[in-house]
Amino acid sequence: MAKQNKTFSCSACGSSFTKWSGRCDGCGEWNTIVEDTPLSAGPASKSLGGQRGSALELTDLSTEEAPPPRTQSGLDELDRVLGGGLVPASAILVGGDPGIGKSTLLLQAAARFAQAGLKTIYVSGEEASAQVRMRAQRLGLSDAPVKLAAETNLRNILTTLEAEMPQLAIIDSIQTMWADNVDSAPGSVSQVRAAAHELTNFAKRKGISIVMVGHVTKEGQIAGPRVVEHMVDTVLYFEGERGHQFRILRAVKNRFGPADEIGVFEMTGGGLSEVINPSALFLSERGEPSPGSVVFSGIEGTRPVLVEFQALIAPSPHAQARRSVVGWDASRLAMILAVLEARCGIPFAGLDVYLNVAGGLKVREPAADLAVAAALLSAREDAALPADTVVFGEISLSGALRPVGQGENRLKEAQKLGFTSAIVPSGGKITGGDGLTLRSYADLTAFVGDIFGA
Ligand code: TYD
Ligand code: MG
Repeated sequence: MAKQNKTFSCSACGSSFTKWSGRCDGCGEWNTIVEDTPLSAGPASKSLGGQRGSALELTDLSTEEAPPPRTQSGLDELDRVLGGGLVPASAILVGGDPGIGKSTLLLQAAARFAQAGLKTIYVSGEEASAQVRMRAQRLGLSDAPVKLAAETNLRNILTTLEAEMPQLAIIDSIQTMWADNVDSAPGSVSQVRAAAHELTNFAKRKGISIVMVGHVTKEGQIAGPRVVEHMVDTVLYFEGERGHQFRILRAVKNRFGPADEIGVFEMTGGGLSEVINPSALFLSERGEPSPGSVVFSGIEGTRPVLVEFQALIAPSPHAQARRSVVGWDASRLAMILAVLEARCGIPFAGLDVYLNVAGGLKVREPAADLAVAAALLSAREDAALPADTVVFGEISLSGALRPVGQGENRLKEAQKLGFTSAIVPSGGKITGGDGLTLRSYADLTAFVGDIFGA
């Protein structure tokens, strides 16, 4: 018999390796690589032994057939992130840190979808049905027509689903599921993969939409949700800062809608409530204009969102100055500091730099470059930006300011929230800011000279 080669997988990102190592080359995490459990090879046979499937010409597919209708939960923030509602027979992964509110969100979503007419079942592998019911009561959902099951054995779950034939099944969580034909502990990479594969397959075959919950983990023995990302149609991450009440549901992959769409929620004593106007929320704690604080007019998915960047600069007591970032990319910050130093002659050596996005939002757009630069300069010079001003624009390594997409929407949102002026790159056509005083600059040096007189 041929020698079975061992294989290894990273439990954080699912990358495969032929040998063990301490650090995953795929995602850079330490101590996440574990040995895979071999799957049974099945009976040896000369012929392929499969059944003949059918292959259609692309043109054979009827175009008359209307796409199956999506179901709206009525929670607009959730429906938008799903791309306009729940698509029948889709497989969805909802990932997030433990305790961030995934179970709460999905119980509320289950109740809403059930009220919208979908036959819904909520399978909990973590809590007893009585506990889920208690939570539902606390959320004021006890009369929603949702069926509850507490089960971790995958075979039992599939049998239950087959008997009940719901239109939506929620599996909380994929790490507690256990397939008895896989010889490893629940939560291991092999188990999580097998369970997600079976469930996704089942969803497609039977026309059931399946939502799987996955905890983001830091230990190697429990597989993280990234291991199953490629198997599902839609990947949503539920994120937020522990100390903040805001929670953001972000689509990172969606076969049925735009990726990068976000839904904003607020965690209250009575569960999650939708935040229809996130700009107002993210700016709500803003007081008088102060040095280091700059409002960025960003786009999250299809929607403009205003957020406040805050910077603090202080002489460093250490040999190596600190660069600390929350809510923005650390390497992008390093780049902007370098451009300020090289192109505008403003050094940050020997100064500690702290940058924070208020409200717990994570901004990923390069369009925030100029707002970051403005916050850094404003903190360094101890001079506030003109009041009621929004900023956006990308900075290139040459120090030139590049126009960014959706300028019109960014300006409109600013105007709607009572801002009176905007600082923008000069290239490109800028429309939509009729009521705003626009200050536009071609490069960073011109901006610095005009606003900070440096
Ligand atoms: P939970 O949904 O259990 O998190 P997850 O499934 O992601 O692990 O939410 C846990 C937190 O949410 C818990 O710390 C308490 C808080 N919470 C509220 O603030 N209000 C509520 O109504 C509920 C149900 C939970
Ligand atoms: Mg939970």
